[in-house]
Amino acid sequence: MSETKTALVTGANKGIGYEIAAGLGALGYRVAVGARDEARLEAAVGKLRAAGAEAFGVPLDVTGDQSVADAVELVERQAGRLDVLVNNAGISGETGSGWGQDPTTLDLDVVRTVVETNVIGVIRVTNAMLPLLRRATSPRIVNVSSSVASLTRQADPAVDVGPVMAAYAPSKSYLNAVTVQYARQFADTNILINAACPGLVATDFTGFRGPRTPEQGAATAIRLATLPDEGPTGSFVEDAGAIPW
Ligand SMILES: NC(=O)c1ccc[n+]([C@@H]2O[C@H](COP(=O)([O-])OP(=O)(O)OC[C@H]3O[C@@H](n4cnc5c(N)ncnc54)[C@H](OP(=O)(O)O)[C@@H]3O)[C@@H](O)[C@H]2O)c1
Repeated sequence: MSETKTALVTGANKGIGYEIAAGLGALGYRVAVGARDEARLEAAVGKLRAAGAEAFGVPLDVTGDQSVADAVELVERQAGRLDVLVNNAGISGETGSGWGQDPTTLDLDVVRTVVETNVIGVIRVTNAMLPLLRRATSPRIVNVSSSVASLTRQADPAVDVGPVMAAYAPSKSYLNAVTVQYARQFADTNILINAACPGLVATDFTGFRGPRTPEQGAATAIRLATLPDEGPTGSFVEDAGAIPW
């Protein structure tokens, strides 16, 4: 089997996901570029290849069982195994004009859509890719979370956690909780799974508000994707270190 390691990044056509793919490509990984829109996928693969990365496209909507099953087949055909999975695809869900989600008036469909993408999508992709990950020598899974998932910070009035986001923030708390359950399940295996916060990054997601570049936002996920075997698992970190749960 090839010595080249393969990394699948979901939602890799733009923003932080694209930069995670670019960073792993620059480190010599063959990058499986996951994206749900064909044209955006092709554009991203072309850009990564032009930058010197070995990349192939993986049509992938994390909310679709068939889409994910097809993605597994494609990765298996192209690479035979998967060394790194970065669950980056995520949405905030609709927000009001002031970029917030008031729990008292929340549209339940927004909650469902956000959880379907940010939580169930991650479980769907992870479990489908697991047989390919288990073939790798040192499998790594990174879940792109957010510091707004921190209940400790959310509950501390002294900490500025931005607007009330009653669908998005809990979806990332849920994702963190799921990450810990995976880490426990993988305790006796070589699989390391961790959650990363990219910081506040200027992307479509934030309406390009935010002091950090997508490249800066990608750094922690790239570090967790390339951890040594004795590295941590079940952690929740940002550039500055551990984030309180
Ligand atoms: N930006 C920040 O400040 C910030 C802070 C904390 C955490 N995060 C997290 O970082 C991750 C990336 O965010 P970003 O800022 O880079 O946002 P972004 O530029 O909006 O990119 C999000 C990516 O996810 C993809 N995506 C959304 N739903 C999908 C689905 N059902 N299936 C497959 N792909 C899907 C999007 O694809 P399309 O192009 O097709 O829509 C896009 O590629 C998210 O998980 C987000 O929650 C971001």
